Amino acid sequence: MALTLTLMDAAGGDRRALTDFLTANLWPFHVRQRLSGAQVTVDIDTGRWGDDRTEAFWIDDDERGRVGLLRLDDLADPTAVVDLRLADPWRGQGLGAGALALAVDRVFRTREGVARLEGQTREDNAPMRRAFDKAGWVREAWYRDGWPVDGAEPLASVAYGVLRRDWASGSTTPVPCGPETPRSGEPRRADGGELIAAAWTAEELLLTPAVRRDPDELRRLLADDFTEIGRSGRRWTRDDIIVALAAETTSARPPIIEERDSRLLGPETVLPTYLLRADDRISRRSSVWQGDPRPRCVFHQGTAVPD
Ligand SMILES: CC(C)(COP(=O)(O)OP(=O)(O)OC[C@H]1O[C@@H](n2cnc3c(N)ncnc32)[C@H](O)[C@@H]1OP(=O)(O)O)[C@@H](O)C(=O)NCCC(=O)NCCS
Repeated sequence: MALTLTLMDAAGGDRRALTDFLTANLWPFHVRQRLSGAQVTVDIDTGRWGDDRTEAFWIDDDERGRVGLLRLDDLADPTAVVDLRLADPWRGQGLGAGALALAVDRVFRTREGVARLEGQTREDNAPMRRAFDKAGWVREAWYRDGWPVDGAEPLASVAYGVLRRDWASGSTTPVPCGPETPRSGEPRRADGGELIAAAWTAEELLLTPAVRRDPDELRRLLADDFTEIGRSGRRWTRDDIIVALAAETTSARPPIIEERDSRLLGPETVLPTYLLRADDRISRRSSVWQGDPRPRCVFHQGTAVPD
């Protein structure tokens, strides 16, 4: 089995085939379960099956032939949306996950502005939910009563998404729970991204000549029990470092930070690591920053990189 996508010309040469496809099949989990020819005509003429922000494709299988269609919508926005429909005879054969993988590839390869692709399905559409799971999409939301059902109580709409950055790196990022909303009067807690950004700002300050010469500024940035293991292997306390930096001669060229990496070690603890080029010396550096909103460095290590 090998699936491919063929771009559809819904308002032109594919009008009849699309109308036949949509009216001949039943769509038990869609809001409109049975479509008439007149409805499809209106949909095509209003751009639902193709315009500057929507693309529709036939899904072809090398053994089975034309098995379904795929609609990609909101392609001009950072979040694009997918709709997948297999023809009745081809359901139940596990083709859905492969079709979703093609959708992801198509969107991220051709639409630079799209950061995420999203799809929603009714809570009881088990095949579609399983197809999302198998294709590596992440369940992001459960919209209660979000899916109208004709003549019955509404059901939940379940949202799945895949990120461009996950697609590019071949990883799957879980949905973060996020910090609790602070009660009034309570200070707001920074999220991981903010903690990391604050740690890097402070780390770069520590490399600035004016800051290195200023004991008050250093006391603000370095924790009372700060320790450092220097390039030579010597162990320094905060007071040792303040004295040593006061005597440091300023280099003509600012140091260069490369190979930045950051890890969250805890709710208020960040570990930035990097390669530092200062004059002709190269070293690998790591620091542990603790605290929110004003992080302080509790530990720093520098290891010389041999020439
Ligand atoms: C939704 C759709 C694309 C899924 O396609 P599919 O890959 O053929 O789906 P399958 O029936 O093969 O089921 C996929 C998986 O769900 C599982 N599944 C199916 N029905 C299930 C059920 N009732 N409970 C639990 N799992 C179920 C299957 O076992 C299969 O898992 P597996 O591959 O691990 O065995 C297809 O059914 C379709 O086009 N339906 C009509 C249109 C539609 O509903 N589109 C979604 C709009 S949001």
